[in-house]
Amino acid sequence: MTAIRRLLLVTSAAALILGGGMLAAVLIERENIHPATAANSAAGASLGGPFTLIRSDGKTVTDQTYRGKLLLVYFGYTYCPDVCPTTLNNVAQALIQLGPEAKAVAPLFITVDPKRDTPQVIGSYVKAFDRRIVGLTGSEAQIAAVAKEYRVYYQPTPAQGGDYLVDHSSLVYLMDRNGKFLKVFSGGLSGIEMVDTIKPFIASAS
Ligand code: NI
Repeated sequence: MTAIRRLLLVTSAAALILGGGMLAAVLIERENIHPATAANSAAGASLGGPFTLIRSDGKTVTDQTYRGKLLLVYFGYTYCPDVCPTTLNNVAQALIQLGPEAKAVAPLFITVDPKRDTPQVIGSYVKAFDRRIVGLTGSEAQIAAVAKEYRVYYQPTPAQGGDYLVDHSSLVYLMDRNGKFLKVFSGGLSGIEMVDTIKPFIASAS
C-alpha cells in the first residue's frame, strides 16, 4: 500500500466517522427541537396534579376518577378557530390507530374558557371528534387551578364584534396510571406519531 493510498484510506475512514457523528448530531438536534424532549426532563416531573372539574354530563370528576388509565390531557376551548380542532383531530386519529388498546387511555379536553364552555357545549364539541374524548369544564377557579398545575398559559383577548378569543398554550400531556407526568408533545403531532409515544406506556405496568 502506498503512502498516498494509505492516506486516502485514513481520510475516507475519518470522513465516515465524522459523517456518522454529524448524522448523530443532526438526529440529536432534531430530537431536541421536539417539544416533547424539553419538558420530558426532570422539569416535567412535577407537571399535573389533583383536579376537580365538571364533565359534560354534569357530573363532578377528579383526577382519581381516571386512576388506572393513561391520561392524554389537552387544554383548549370550543370557540378556538384552528389549533384546538387540529389537535383534537390528531387525538381522535391516535385513538383510532390504537384500536382496542385505546381502552387504556382517557383523553381529556379541559376548557380554558369556562364562561362559554358549559358542560353541554363542551360535550357536543368533543363528540364531533371522537365519542371517547372527555370534555371537562368547571368554575373559573377550578380551571385556573388545573391550568396552573399543568403550567398552561391562557389569556382572553378581545376579538371583533365584542367577542373574545383565548390565547393558550397547545401541548398534549401524557400522564401515567397514577396521574404522574410521562411525556408532553405538540398538539400538531399526527395521530400516528402520538401512538408511537403512547404505545410503550400501554405495555408497561406503571
Ligand atoms: Ni385552541
